[in-house]
Amino acid sequence: MKSLFFNQGLAQTTPFPLGIEIARAEGIYFYTESGNRIMDFVSGVGVSNLGHGNLKIKEAIHAQVEKHLHTMVYGEFIQASQTKAAALLTGLLPERLNCCYFVNSGTEANEAAIKLVKRATGRKKIISFIGSYHGSTTGSMAISYNEKKKSAFRPLMPGVEFIRLNNWEDLNLITEEIAGVFLETVQGDAGVRIPNPLYLSALRKKCTEVGALLVFDEIQCGMGRTAKHFAFEHFNVIPDILTLGKALGGGLPIGCLVANKNQMELLSFDPLLGHISTFAGHPVACAAAAAFLEELNQPHILPHAEAIGQYLERELSTFKHVKEIRRIGLYFAVDMESEEVVQQMVDSNLEQGLLSFWFLSCPWSFRIAPPLITTFEEAEKAINIMRKSHDKIA
Ligand SMILES: Cc1ncc(COP(=O)(O)O)c(C=O)c1O
Repeated sequence: MKSLFFNQGLAQTTPFPLGIEIARAEGIYFYTESGNRIMDFVSGVGVSNLGHGNLKIKEAIHAQVEKHLHTMVYGEFIQASQTKAAALLTGLLPERLNCCYFVNSGTEANEAAIKLVKRATGRKKIISFIGSYHGSTTGSMAISYNEKKKSAFRPLMPGVEFIRLNNWEDLNLITEEIAGVFLETVQGDAGVRIPNPLYLSALRKKCTEVGALLVFDEIQCGMGRTAKHFAFEHFNVIPDILTLGKALGGGLPIGCLVANKNQMELLSFDPLLGHISTFAGHPVACAAAAAFLEELNQPHILPHAEAIGQYLERELSTFKHVKEIRRIGLYFAVDMESEEVVQQMVDSNLEQGLLSFWFLSCPWSFRIAPPLITTFEEAEKAINIMRKSHDKIA
């Protein structure tokens, strides 16, 4: 059957569809309707961290479907899949981050965080970072930087200022008027920007001094992507609030706001039901998240991801058209000479059966973020493909 996508009633949100119809996916491969196999080196933009078709995740989903789907709204009932996912998640986190509020997506987690920092501090202003991406709803878009993406939708939420990452002087803009400071621990869309650890400590100190809540958005860089459970573990800095999503659901839609229980409780009164959503913490998504976390916790997964990351970086650094590689774990931005060269690389990779991708806010880099379960043999195959693409560049 030819795709319904192009000619019938489905919204097309990209002007650059690949037009490939996926029949199934397993491990690090997509299998297309036309019988091709494509190596997934993007992980659905940070989602399929354990690859596709993980058996334990599938079993957990099936088991939950048999038990029950949606029950009630806003936390009236105890649902075992929610409490299990929350216990597993808080078990991995520092003591301060002891309360999870599951939502349906990353942007919703950030929307909830925007509300929580205001509610907890009684302040109205927010600081975010140049280069940031926090989502596509109006609040999270307001705290995202890319003006090209925002201008058609103004007015957005007021009271947001942007500061420069790794710039100590800009920390002076974090004052007692600020409710919260939002930062992707490793900026994704900006092209994998890794903060200076000393800067991150100074940021933490400044937020504590002025009573602003520090929010780390780990929607893309969390859940093993950087070869640690959470990116902030690389820097020894603990946020007041953490937002998660993407890979957490093991392929199902989920987001999560994590904070201290005392703060989180502020969302339940004044106003009553301060942040609610009918499907938030959907039992099937939570069952998948719990299984994902159990799988991620296997001791070999994260060291293996780092070893594959090092191998890929070593090989890519021998490519003469590569200008810079920014890598942390299996999160890569590879800078090339120009946007056009990146386009050639991405197109040629795909022609040879390897999915790589762009960054919206960093068009001169290409993105690879393979599943953490990628084997050395698969990584070598991917390098051979990328080398062929690279060698075609004039
Ligand atoms: C760092 C970051 N925050 C938030 C989001 C928004 O998440 P979602 O697309 O699930 O709403 C994304 C999505 O790419 C992201 O990368």
